[in-house]
This record gives sequence, C-alpha cells and structure tokens, in this order.
Amino acid sequence: MEGISAIILAAGLGKRMKSALPKVAHPVLGRPMLWHVAQAAKAAGISEIVFVLGHGREKVMETANLFGGKVAVQEQPLGTGDAARAGLKVLSPKAKEVVVLCGDAPLLRPRTIRTLIAARRRRKAAASVLIGVLPDPSGYGRVVRNPDGTVARIVEEKDGDASIRQVKEVNSGTYAFDRAFLARNLPRLTDVNVQREFYLTDLVVQALEEGKIVVPVVAADPDEVRGINSRRELAEAAALLLRGKVDALLDAGVTFLDPARVYVETEVSVGADSVIEPDVVLAGSTRIGRGVRIQAGCVVEDSRVEDGVHLRPYSILNGAHVRKGAVVGPFAHLRPEADIGEGAHIGNFVEVKKSRLGKGSKANHLAYIGDAQVGKKVNIGAGTITCNYDGIAKHPTVIGDGVFVGSDTQFVAPVTIGRGAVIGAGATITKNVPPYALALSRAEQRNLENWVVRKKPELLRKGGLKIPRLPKGETG
Ligand code: UD1
Ligand code: CA
Repeated sequence: MEGISAIILAAGLGKRMKSALPKVAHPVLGRPMLWHVAQAAKAAGISEIVFVLGHGREKVMETANLFGGKVAVQEQPLGTGDAARAGLKVLSPKAKEVVVLCGDAPLLRPRTIRTLIAARRRRKAAASVLIGVLPDPSGYGRVVRNPDGTVARIVEEKDGDASIRQVKEVNSGTYAFDRAFLARNLPRLTDVNVQREFYLTDLVVQALEEGKIVVPVVAADPDEVRGINSRRELAEAAALLLRGKVDALLDAGVTFLDPARVYVETEVSVGADSVIEPDVVLAGSTRIGRGVRIQAGCVVEDSRVEDGVHLRPYSILNGAHVRKGAVVGPFAHLRPEADIGEGAHIGNFVEVKKSRLGKGSKANHLAYIGDAQVGKKVNIGAGTITCNYDGIAKHPTVIGDGVFVGSDTQFVAPVTIGRGAVIGAGATITKNVPPYALALSRAEQRNLENWVVRKKPELLRKGGLKIPRLPKGETG
C-alpha cells in the first residue's frame, strides 16, 4: 500500500520476562516476536517499516535488517508516545498514513491491519484503534467509549479506578493514524500519570480536542490483541500460533496422527499427503515435500526433505538435504551439508556430515561419513568410518560409483577409491584404491588346531561341551 508506513514500538525493557534478552527478541515458534509483527505488516502490504529500538537493540537489529527496516533509537524507555515520536523522526515524508504496532503483539494478522487502515479512512478519523474484548483484561489499557461508539479515552489500568478495571474492552496498542495528526500531536504529550511515561493513548483525548474522532475496530479474534509481557503469556501465544500452524497444514493436505503432539515452526512448509507421527519437531527453514512420512521422534531443522522420503523414528536432521524417495533412520543423524541422494538409504546409527551420497547408495548400519563424496549405488558396510580429521585439519574421502565397502572399514583421509572397487572387510585404507581393484588390509588368519582342548579345556566345560578326545600324539 502506497503512502502507508509502519512504526513498530520495540524499545521497552520487558522487565516481566526476567530475561537478559530484550522482550521482542524472544522467539515464538522459532522466530523473534518482533519478526512476527514485521511479517504481518509486510503481508498487509506496508512497504516502509520503522523499528523503534532501545534496550539490547543489537540483539534485534538482525530482524530489522531482514525487513529492510529503518531503525530509530529510543535511548530511554519514556513510554509508547515517546517511542512513536522517535519513529516518526525517521519516517519517509511520503507516508501520509502511519500504522503503529507493538513489537510484543505477535498474534496480529495482516488482514486485521488492513481493516484498521480502511476503518480510519472511511470515517476520515484522526486514528483508528484495534480493540478486543478479553475475559481477563487485567494489565491492559481500557477503552472508554463515547455515546456514539467512538473512543473517548484509553485509560491504563494503573491510572484507572475500580470502575475502569470493570471494563472488558482493551486497547491492543495497534493503531492507524493520519500522519499530519500524529506529527501535530505527539509533541503535545505529557508524562503526567502514575508511570511518569508519555502515553501514546493520550492522543485520543487530543483528537477530541481537535474536533476529530478515533474509531474503534473490534478484533474478530480477541487473541489477536494479546500483548506479551511475561513468559506465561509467551507460552500461551506460542501455543496459539502452533495450533494455527498445524491447522493450516491440515487444511493443505498434511496428516498429523496426533496434531496435539507436534512442534512445527512458523516458516516450515510441508507438502500434501505427507504423514507426520507424534513427537516430531520441524524447525527453522525446513521444507518438506509431498508424500513424506516422518515417524515418531524425528527432529528436523533447517533441512530440505524431498517428495516421498521416509524418515524412520528418532532421526535428527540439521541443515541436511534428503532427495526423492530416500529412506533415513531409525536413529540416523544428518548434520549440516549432508546430501542424501535419490533413493539412498541411511540406516540406524549412521552419522553423515558435509558429505554427498549418490543416487541409490546405502549406508545401513553404524557408520560415520564426514567430508566425503560418495558416488551412486555404493554399498557402505556396517561400521565404516571416514577418519576425516587428523587433529588439525579435515580431509576428504572420495568413493567412486558402485564401490562395495566391506564392514568395519576405516578410510584414513585424504583417500580416493576408484569406481567399482571392493574393500575387504576390516580394512584400514590409507592409500588410494584404483578402479575395479580389491583392497585388503588385514593380517592373514591363522588357526591353531585344537588349541582350546589343549590349553583351555575349562572353557569347554563351562560352555557345556564335552572335552573331545584328541587324536594320538596330540596331548595337553
Ligand atoms: C500498552 C498500552 C496499553 C495496551 C497495551 C497492549 C500505552 C500507554 N499503553 O501498554 O493501553 O493495552 O500496550 O499490549 O501505550 N515501548 C517502547 N518504548 C517505551 C515503552 C514501550 O518502545 O518507552 C514498546 C514496547 O517495547 C512494547 C510496546 O511499546 O513493544 C508496548 O509497551 P508496554 O510497556 O508493553 O506497554 P503496556 O504497558 O503493555
Ligand atoms: Ca505490552
């Protein structure tokens, strides 16, 4: 929307969070509170966003930068009115309308912001304010109406008497303003109140003094007006957002065997016909394709999982890419830059880091694959380890297409195995292996005939075996 800017107030201390982290930096469903507010403004079509930051601002700068926002610094938290004043100073002169949002209200939806803007325009009001009816309004500013339904005053709970505390209609702290009105009236605010703060809410009375009105917009969903001031409120907001996220995925064709027992962060996407079992965590920028099966206990963070993949129980993925139809787990660990090829199999207790496994390759049991390039249709036996680290630096292992790696092999990197080669079980490979060769590296086996009978007959007795009679000439 042209000519509309947003100021997001995010300089408050947030004392009630009891945290070293600024309140608006606390994550809700994987992204900072402030991120959700900025995202709503952006999705509402607002192009310019000004972030008013103060206490601990270095910890929220990243969010501001992500949205290409301007930053205004409020050195002292002198109140919401003072914060808005700081924001207005850096606002583009082109903005004729200004939406003011609270950085601590992450449940606000884009559609509601648009409704608020439209309501002010329709009535040519000085401002519109989003309000909500809460069963427990304590802590919020209360909205007092004029007989015609417009807003007469907003009274902070701390400044109000018993009758004010009875009011169930609360101020969300979200407003649309006529910019000229805001610019004229912000300098007129005073801090004559219980908290000795400059209240943005006092603009209501100033509008009436100018003969203008402030229109209320009642939130269709009262949860949207919730501001977060404590860990308890943070937990409640996160639970609401989570439920919304899971519902949206259900609507998009995803099956959750138990929708109440999953944790899916806000930016995660899941394709239709995927089936997700209980106790699954999908976090960060994870993208799950269609028809993916994710079994119980999997934790998938910042990973890409393509169509038709099967993640068996308790697999952990972080920064991994699993291509079409691959099967992973149970109990697999795919770490950053693990790239599992189409149809490949990663089995139990297999850890993969910064390695590419080609199409159709298999590492089914107990292996560590790090800094490796593994070709197509390679079979990696149980207990295979890439010794990629010499205590100082990491080294690569390159394994060609169609290689068969016998069980319990160590690749002492850097090392290259040519295509089609076979590594005999129990090898310690320190030298390159040419294509199609058999590499063996183990002491030849020696059998000492009847050694147990002669030297340790008690072992046979213990094992319930009769002690066999030895041929003539062989004695103990
Ligand atoms: C404010 C409103 C209240 C409303 C409630 C909704 C005022 C006076 N009161 O109260 O009517 O019901 O929000 O949640 O506006 N902030 C700054 N600088 C400051 C003070 C606050 O940037 O000096 C920011 C905070 O970071 C926060 C937002 O403004 O994001 C709201 O501040 P907060 O202190 O939580 O206000 P409330 O007391 O909840
Ligand atoms: Ca608040």
